[in-house]
Amino acid sequence: MEGLPDVQALCREVLARIDAAADAAALEAVRIEWLGRKAGRITALMKQIPALPPPERGPFGQAVNELKTAVTEQLAARQAALEASTPKHLGVDVTMPGRRLEIGRLHPITQATREMVEIFGRLGFEVVEGPEVEDEWHNFVGLNIPPEHPARDPLDNYYLKDHVLLRTQTSTVQIRVMEHRKPPVRVIAPGRVYRPDTVDAGHSNMFHQLEGLWVEEGVTFADLKSVLAMFARAFFGPTVKTRFQPSYFPFTEPSAEMYVSCLLCGGAGCAACKRTGWIEILGCGMVAPNVFEAVGYDPEKVTGFAFGMGIDRQAMLKYGVRDIRLFFDNDLRFLRQF
Ligand code: DAH
Repeated sequence: MEGLPDVQALCREVLARIDAAADAAALEAVRIEWLGRKAGRITALMKQIPALPPPERGPFGQAVNELKTAVTEQLAARQAALEASTPKHLGVDVTMPGRRLEIGRLHPITQATREMVEIFGRLGFEVVEGPEVEDEWHNFVGLNIPPEHPARDPLDNYYLKDHVLLRTQTSTVQIRVMEHRKPPVRVIAPGRVYRPDTVDAGHSNMFHQLEGLWVEEGVTFADLKSVLAMFARAFFGPTVKTRFQPSYFPFTEPSAEMYVSCLLCGGAGCAACKRTGWIEILGCGMVAPNVFEAVGYDPEKVTGFAFGMGIDRQAMLKYGVRDIRLFFDNDLRFLRQF
């Protein structure tokens, strides 16, 4: 059988290769090399058979056929062996403990906001909301803040385009409510506000305020004081003391700031209260006649008071958080404590 390959030797070679295949991919590579339809080495031998002279055709053909059968069987055996040694998909183990559900919780700012809403709700205040993208009318003009007022400096505001900015205060909602409703009005407006402040432990360029407004015939500064003092006792605890100090806001006259006795040192004086024993928590006052006129209310008929407080600040005080940035870092180790 001059010129024809040694089928016995080929057989030894291919069987050794099959046994050495370490995984399904290696085994498939061996199969393609030997039995592949286009270029398989055994396939090529099969194609030679018909062209051989009759004396060689019989024995060689038989040998190649036996080789092919042996290889096919060995491939199947090796494949079974590989499958048996790889771990199977084991179905469902119903005795395994379930995967624990992560229980979420409300963000501390949300908790503080809801508590404030609940307290003012008891005093008859309804929750309203306004947009965070505002125009100058609602953020400034209607609130009696004239163009030359320093608060309108473009560097102190996030202007989005001419006359449109991210609101710097929730006082905008006072104007929006009064534009659309006749008195009496008794509302609070919680929400986000934005100022391009340098971020540090006490400042964030996005924070939360809660605005309040009560307008009706005969509302007085005594109502303002009693509502806000009641709020402070409900929110911070019955022993907290309050103090009002004259102040100035363009949209109230007279204006005041309310202070509470420092919750961190109990009034003795510490770093948080700058050794004064008092912490300012809000601005307030009687709604200015100009504001009533801007929204079409008659300042001779109705009076009202307004206030605005930083929710984040109050939450820091109440929960003893010393850095406002912690509220917005979304570090679960911090948030899980609330
Ligand atoms: N809008 C003021 C601020 O952001 C807070 C404020 C002061 C709101 C007096 C009021 C108010 O409604 O009467 O600083």
